[in-house]
Amino acid sequence: MVALSGEIKEIFNKNKVIPMATASKNGVPNVAPMAAIQLVGDDTVWIMDNYMVKTLENLKENPIVALYFYDPESRRCFQIKGATEIKTSGPDYEKFREKMKAKSDKYPAKSLVVMKITDVFECTPGKEAGKKVL
Ligand SMILES: Cc1cc2nc3c(=O)[nH]c(=O)nc-3n(C[C@H](O)[C@H](O)[C@H](O)COP(=O)(O)O)c2cc1C
Repeated sequence: MVALSGEIKEIFNKNKVIPMATASKNGVPNVAPMAAIQLVGDDTVWIMDNYMVKTLENLKENPIVALYFYDPESRRCFQIKGATEIKTSGPDYEKFREKMKAKSDKYPAKSLVVMKITDVFECTPGKEAGKKVL
């Protein structure tokens, strides 16, 4: 079980928009920016499907995703990977849906993508680049 450190969580939270990479079952990659994204505890990320198209198609075929987040001040960068589950009902979905709707009614809040983090890598340029952290 992976548990993000305080520093990694801080850098995640500094990023307003995080790129989300998925792949089809045939290995065709896709990357899309996500702003409705938040950490839950030390090992879970919630992403709201408002407008996902290829991302959602890929998740249904292949649940593994990768994200990266970067802090321009410290130049630290982390890549995280994990397995996702798509929820269209239940307390977690309702909680995030309410948060979206409170921001604006324009958000469709179609489904909640729950990502359980399995791996963390450093993407800071330099000698640590690419190393597995967790
Ligand atoms: C700054 C920014 C933030 C975005 N945030 C989200 C988001 O939180 N959830 C979402 O479903 N789509 C979001 N989108 C839209 C997706 O990035 C993308 O357009 C959509 O998923 C369709 O692309 P796809 O076919 O690659 O999935 C955002 C787009 C931008 C430019």
